[in-house]
Amino acid sequence: MHTSPNPGMFAATETGSYRSTDLSQFTEAANQLLGKMTIEEKVGQMVQVDSAALKDKEDVQRLGLGSVLSGGNSDPDQGSSPKAWRDFVLQFKSQALQTRLKIPLLYGIDAVHGHNNVDGAVIFPHQIGLGASGNPGLVRLAAQITAREMAATGIRWAFSPCVAVPLNPSWGRTYEGYGDQTNLVSQLGQAAVLGLQGESLSPSPLSILACAKHFIGDGGTAQGIDQGDVTLDEAALRALFLPPYKAAIQAGVGSIMVSYNSWQGTKLHCHKHLLTDVLKGELGFLGFLVSDWAAIDQITTDYKKAVELSIMAGLDMVMIPNGPDKPNNYLVFIRHLLDLVRAGMVPESRIDDAVRRILRVKLAMGLFDEDIPDPSLIEFVGCPAHRDAARHCVRQSLVLIKNKDHLLPLSSSLQNIAVVGNAADDLGIQCGGWTMDWQGGHGNIISGGTTLLSALRQKVPHGADIFYSPDASNLGHPDVVVVVLGENPYAEMKGDKQQPALSPEDHEIVSRACQTGSPVVTVLYSGRPLILGQALTQSQAFVAAWLPGTEGLGITDVLFGSHPFTGKLPRHWPEAQESIKKSCS
Ligand code: GLC
Repeated sequence: MHTSPNPGMFAATETGSYRSTDLSQFTEAANQLLGKMTIEEKVGQMVQVDSAALKDKEDVQRLGLGSVLSGGNSDPDQGSSPKAWRDFVLQFKSQALQTRLKIPLLYGIDAVHGHNNVDGAVIFPHQIGLGASGNPGLVRLAAQITAREMAATGIRWAFSPCVAVPLNPSWGRTYEGYGDQTNLVSQLGQAAVLGLQGESLSPSPLSILACAKHFIGDGGTAQGIDQGDVTLDEAALRALFLPPYKAAIQAGVGSIMVSYNSWQGTKLHCHKHLLTDVLKGELGFLGFLVSDWAAIDQITTDYKKAVELSIMAGLDMVMIPNGPDKPNNYLVFIRHLLDLVRAGMVPESRIDDAVRRILRVKLAMGLFDEDIPDPSLIEFVGCPAHRDAARHCVRQSLVLIKNKDHLLPLSSSLQNIAVVGNAADDLGIQCGGWTMDWQGGHGNIISGGTTLLSALRQKVPHGADIFYSPDASNLGHPDVVVVVLGENPYAEMKGDKQQPALSPEDHEIVSRACQTGSPVVTVLYSGRPLILGQALTQSQAFVAAWLPGTEGLGITDVLFGSHPFTGKLPRHWPEAQESIKKSCS
């Protein structure tokens, strides 16, 4: 029996006013600290290094680094348990506290659908599924829970929410966006910021710095090419992609990540008009701008010039994944920036602006006080209450595309259910990319999850028989066939695909299911709309489940009718829209 979807431990408010962080209240304290800092200490604060690049953790103390991140594949050497992560992160934090001014470290990670690199964490539906829920209160609750599981590991910066407006489903990051409607993205992105940070950034270990990303236009590139060029004019760029950042800033977002893409041929990472005039000037953003992963390297092959152009455009912190053994590494970056300041190419006032912004956020988060998480928080990671909340998110994310003759909800009198498709018992496909690894994986990739097959086995009507055949062979004549199809996991450019569609193998599975003469319900795990063709025609019922995460029971809750379908398409999907219209006619 699961507890209420909004366990008492959280006070998620569905709507209501909020007080965005007024970071300016920390300006005086930041300036006082700034006045004590050497130029080397200031430049150190502007550097974020990937943990895998820091073979020598002492460099955090030696160089006064402002931040460390764990990129998608940069896990602790002692494994991926919550404790392994906590021990790993605290090593870096302790280094920062041994610096002359003891300026604390900000540790960041891509917790984009739960604390997704930590084994046993609850994995929520990717944002496209939350977009289908259309429920800001639920998005805020999911973010709050993610914050609580992050706090257990001492990581207090999430590179989330992605507030892209993905226009073309060819883009491999379509699932990282809530949908293709700007106002939906604004509303849900704002809810995620409030869920992560709280009503405002605060010294609570549960207040996690959010990072609205990727500014600006990542979802609007020509042909949906990842890191491509946005050709729209400024009016269209503003109308489509700026409102989600305004909403995030209103909610007090403390950091914004700059996008790899370019606009009319100019890389965002060196676009002074958009980064400084628009974001910091017109929108009044008081937090700090962080680059994407080695993104400044794409500005020009002359790394020193890239450093100059990006910092002068308004970048405040630079994400550097290369260690001393590689080019464009963090030692080279620091040397170049110090040379540029000393040569007057980068005025120290620009450095001071960047460091002031970083220090304001660290002060607002209370990092200068105690920043060691209580070990007891680890028991929250993957706890039943968190899983129940994620199960609720899954339920509300499902979209009923087709339901001929009201096949769904499945009858409780069914005696013989066949389940086909390898996605039915593959947690990796069910979770999608950014799960335990940058690209995700296959099989039982994370502890504590429930595949749809195991959920069906738990929820099947009393006495009924579940027969699982991944390739839909030897099905006999079941009462119903549940087909589960899914995209192989991917992330970023690895998922770019023109005309994304079901595979021939998918269609073969559906055809074999139909040859039984039994009714067929198809459940699809996908990060975006796919061309469905015959699979939709041949299925009596069809459910878009997006990338639901670890809580497969949320799907059976709706398949067997204990909860209704409430999800709505969060983006254009012509075939599906047509089918829904027919189903409702
Ligand atoms: C990646 C992504 C960005 C992520 C960053 C750190 O390339 O573009 O979304 O936060 O690098 O992993």
